[in-house]
Amino acid sequence: MNYEKIQAPKGVREYLPPESTAFEWVRQQLISPARLAGYQLMELPVFEDTNLFSRGVGESTDVVSKEMYTFEDRGGRSITLRPEGTAGVMRAVIEQNLDRGQLPVKVWYSGQYFRAERPQAGRYRQFYQVGIEAIGVDDPAIDAEVIAIAYQGFKNIGLKNFTLQITSLGDAPSRAAHREDLMKFYQTLNLDEATSARAQLNPLRLFDDKRPEMVAAMAKAPLLLDYLSPEAQDNFGKVQSYLKAMNIAFTINPRMVRGLDYYTGTTFEFVHSDLGAQSGIGGGGRYDGLMEILGGQPLSGIGFGLGVDRALLAAVAEGVLPSDSFTSDLFIIPLGESAKSSALTIASQLRNSGITTEIAFGDRALKGAMKAADKSGARFVIVLGESELQAGTVELKRMDDGAVNSVKIEQLQGELRSQLSAQRK
Ligand code: HAM
Repeated sequence: MNYEKIQAPKGVREYLPPESTAFEWVRQQLISPARLAGYQLMELPVFEDTNLFSRGVGESTDVVSKEMYTFEDRGGRSITLRPEGTAGVMRAVIEQNLDRGQLPVKVWYSGQYFRAERPQAGRYRQFYQVGIEAIGVDDPAIDAEVIAIAYQGFKNIGLKNFTLQITSLGDAPSRAAHREDLMKFYQTLNLDEATSARAQLNPLRLFDDKRPEMVAAMAKAPLLLDYLSPEAQDNFGKVQSYLKAMNIAFTINPRMVRGLDYYTGTTFEFVHSDLGAQSGIGGGGRYDGLMEILGGQPLSGIGFGLGVDRALLAAVAEGVLPSDSFTSDLFIIPLGESAKSSALTIASQLRNSGITTEIAFGDRALKGAMKAADKSGARFVIVLGESELQAGTVELKRMDDGAVNSVKIEQLQGELRSQLSAQRK
């Protein structure tokens, strides 16, 4: 039969070996600072009630109005593949009453997110984020901690060519005062119907309009940063001084507009200079009204989402990926039936002691098996045949320089350990 091949859906990003090893490494670097700061894992569904996102993320956003993967399930419910992580975390916190316990609730997550965007380099329809959320404490020090955790993730990878932009979207009085002047300003522009409808839903959204005539018009728009209440100003000042104390460089970008509607107070983005149009490698901020509009108590929150795909692209662009990606410590070549059984036993013992061990399977001739050992990139190779088993000794071959020494099988683990640690020095 001649079946047609099936292709992956358009715009998805998948990671196969050997690239997947680099991906896994990048993801681990990004999230490890959160674990060191006491954030705990939350695993959530990839699909949720559509209302969670239309209400939580906001109708004015491209994410909700154009990019959601929404479908009816078999029970006639409207379901959406999660376009981001924050709304789901908040839903779970409210539903499971985590907000009634110790505050702040501090969680991290990692997974796939879905947005029906036009695919291009660094922009995918299924992409990967790691993120954190800290819910229930309104203290500028936690804002600074959250930013520092994201910053450290990028530093762990070894990235240099990125900048941190921050701004404040103020508190409710700041936003109300700004909104009044901004709406007056919009009346002086000749906005089309769709644009004014967007402005009604979220007046800040028009700062994000990429059409040249809108960019020009918005150059004169009043900026929220000039309307901060004394409290909001004091708060933003503290966040900045904490960042300075931690030696985290930043610039203030008063025109930053995040693509999601829930933001209030401190907001931030990390921008990488080697990635072209899709330069945002991570972003986040405060979302002090979100819990309430999702039916919970009025608690504050702050968090971030980091783009793992883009962080990997940035690591490749800067050439900072570690070179010894996936390399086994030992490759065992068994010759004959009884050697196969011993190879399995020896390999399990070595693996249990943390030594990465592969076996050459299939009844290949020695030459073919040696080729496979070479290709595997393993650091050491042993051949296990009848005579080796009888003598209880193998020839341990170091692959980088071909050096060989005889080792008793029962001493293999200790010998490998000492040689590997010498190699790693
Ligand atoms: P976001 O800025 O929409 O924020 O996404 C965070 C990061 O995900 C972006 O900076 C980017 O690196 C990556 N990203 C977004 N869309 C794509 C895509 N189509 N392809 C590849 N990468 C992409 C959020 O999602 C918020 N939930 C972050 C947050 C958490 N705010 C508070 N808490």
